[in-house]
Amino acid sequence: MTLSDLIPSLRPTLACRLDRGLWPETTRTTCTGQLLVGGVDLAELAGRFGTPVLAVDVTDIRSRCRAYRAALPGVEIAYAAKAFLCRAMARLADQEGLALDVCSGGEVAVAAAAGFPGARMVLHGNVKTDEDLKTAFAAGVGRIVVDALDEIATIAALAPTRQRVLLRVVPAVDAGTHAGLTTGTEDQKFGLSVATGAAAEAVRRVLARPELELVGLHCHLGSQVRHVRTYVEAAERMVAFLAQVGREYGVRLPELDLGGGHAVPYAEGEPAFDLAGFARSVPATVAAGCRAAGMPVPRLTVEPGRALVARAG
Ligand SMILES: Cc1ncc(COP(=O)(O)O)c(C=O)c1O
Repeated sequence: MTLSDLIPSLRPTLACRLDRGLWPETTRTTCTGQLLVGGVDLAELAGRFGTPVLAVDVTDIRSRCRAYRAALPGVEIAYAAKAFLCRAMARLADQEGLALDVCSGGEVAVAAAAGFPGARMVLHGNVKTDEDLKTAFAAGVGRIVVDALDEIATIAALAPTRQRVLLRVVPAVDAGTHAGLTTGTEDQKFGLSVATGAAAEAVRRVLARPELELVGLHCHLGSQVRHVRTYVEAAERMVAFLAQVGREYGVRLPELDLGGGHAVPYAEGEPAFDLAGFARSVPATVAAGCRAAGMPVPRLTVEPGRALVARAG
């Protein structure tokens, strides 16, 4: 027998004990057992719209965006739209001063319809169709991340004006997440391997295309990455490749995008991503590596997806 069986008036209070890490910031329970998000009673919401129903806590999303911007001053925060996108979300990302990582013509179209500036969009994807590219060009996409060698000629041929590109490089770092979510190792389908020479070949091909401007490198270790040290390791390897590009091709690339994947708790008791630890160590690692190699420090980008919205929906 539990305490709430003995004292029925305690039942709602005990039943509503929440793991704050799993619920949006504005979640409140009442002594009558109501569960409120943003002041809205979730039972009422379910009664009105049926279930499942997706409710978004805008306050929660805004404070997560602000936490990233405050923790990482000078670092571009590109919200990974695949985590959740609608026009309101694109407007919110814009208002919070974020860039937007998009990976299909559909995502570009939603963001553009919301007035999100194309110049702050970054187009990803390992299967970019001509339609995806044309939609992105029509929106004035700022940067395209090249994922494979054969994309280079296609992007160059379709680009209406000189197009800025980054190269997605495989850093060969195992982030220790679920195998199905791992994208920083050699044995997966994304990016250009340094080890096989594909990444260097991509640099050579992009530099040979006047339609393209190579502005930087990108990597993404996977999702639900918990260990900051794996980002440090990836940063070191990316800086080493930046230095190689400098030595072999005589170019200094001004941008380094370290992707997303910052873990969020999905079950009670799981820790949140150590954003403060990331902010303390990753930019410093890049700066130290660049100094040691005699290179200017590139502007960093990070691409959190679920870390900005997972708890908010
Ligand atoms: C290139 C890239 N950036 C960022 C993300 C966002 O990942 P997450 O939602 O785990 O932060 C993804 C997710 O697949 C991705 O592929």
